[in-house]
Amino acid sequence: MAKRADGDSSTVKEARPPVIVWNKERERFETEDKEAFLQYHLRDVGLVAAAANRSDNPEQQKRKGAAVVMDMVHTYVPRSKRGMGLAALLCDAAFAHAQCHSMLVIPTCSYISDTYLPRNPAWNSLVCNGEPKSSM
Ligand code: COA
Repeated sequence: MAKRADGDSSTVKEARPPVIVWNKERERFETEDKEAFLQYHLRDVGLVAAAANRSDNPEQQKRKGAAVVMDMVHTYVPRSKRGMGLAALLCDAAFAHAQCHSMLVIPTCSYISDTYLPRNPAWNSLVCNGEPKSSM
């Protein structure tokens, strides 16, 4: 709780950033209420090896032996919560997870390929095709 800036002795609630949860069974990263989510599917290792073989990207070479690749197929945020960065938070969690588990990513979802990655180019090193997106 925080004191009000105008000196009023009543307290105000501090906004809590949304918590993103990994739902392993449903292959999703989602908000606690499950209304917003990033859906992924785990894909075959052969695809990763083929992409890594074609790439000079050291991150991809490092992940060449990775067991799986995360295909991020869909991101959804309810209309009432759009434009506040919630989809970006879901992506942050999903990319961090991929990195922790030495996985490459296929950004099938257009929000991820066209908006999130250009705004977060550091994650391009995990992208399976190895083609970097330009910064916005
Ligand atoms: N493709 C690329 N970028 C998109 C997009 C799409 N389909 N839909 C919205 N964006 C952009 C917006 O133009 C906005 O840009 P701005 O910041 O310049 O205004 C930005 O994403 C908003 O980012 P953020 O606040 O992190 O996203 P969000 O929480 O509003 O959620 C979606 C974005 C796409 C998940 C949400 O609009 C949604 O659920 N749409 C319906 C489902 C959908 O089209 N999903 C994407 C394809 S899988």
